[in-house]
Parts: sequence; C-alpha cells; structure tokens
Amino acid sequence: MVKITVCIGSSCHLKGSRQIVEQLQRLVKLNKLDSDVDLSGTFCMGQCADGGVAVAVNGEYHSVRPETAGDFFDGVVVKSLNAAM
Ligand code: FES
Repeated sequence: MVKITVCIGSSCHLKGSRQIVEQLQRLVKLNKLDSDVDLSGTFCMGQCADGGVAVAVNGEYHSVRPETAGDFFDGVVVKSLNAAM
C-alpha cells in the first residue's frame, strides 16, 4: 500500500492541487490500483515555497505540477508500489 497525500492548502490549490488529485485518481483507476493506493488530501504541509504542489508519498515530499503528474505517477508512485511488493 502506498499512501499519497496531496496538499490542498491555499498556496498549493493555486498551483493546481485539484487537477493533480483528479489526475492521480484517474491514473489509479486506469491502472486498477484502487486497493494499493491510499489517496487523500491535507492542509498546508509547510512546503509552499516549492514551485509545485506538495505531495507526500509514504511521508516523503515531492513537488508536483499538473503537467508532471503523469511522470510523477509512473516514476514515484509505481516505483514505490513495486518496491513494496
Ligand atoms: S499550501 Fe501546500 S505546502 Fe503550503
């Protein structure tokens, strides 16, 4: 199980956290990973200064932009899943 927490605080909201949540939800469904990925939102994680939206994967921070959400999913999320298996 991989735990993904997307910041939906105001700064990240402006940077597109909503699109990122939607894209991740779509990718999780598409890859039939509903039971392997726990996707949730959280308020400000104190990473506002980063260029993208703060997304934690198993507690590790990543800076993600809507246009890089696909790469982030393939790289970080799928990699973490494979490592957990
Ligand atoms: S609003 Fe997302 S880290 Fe602060």
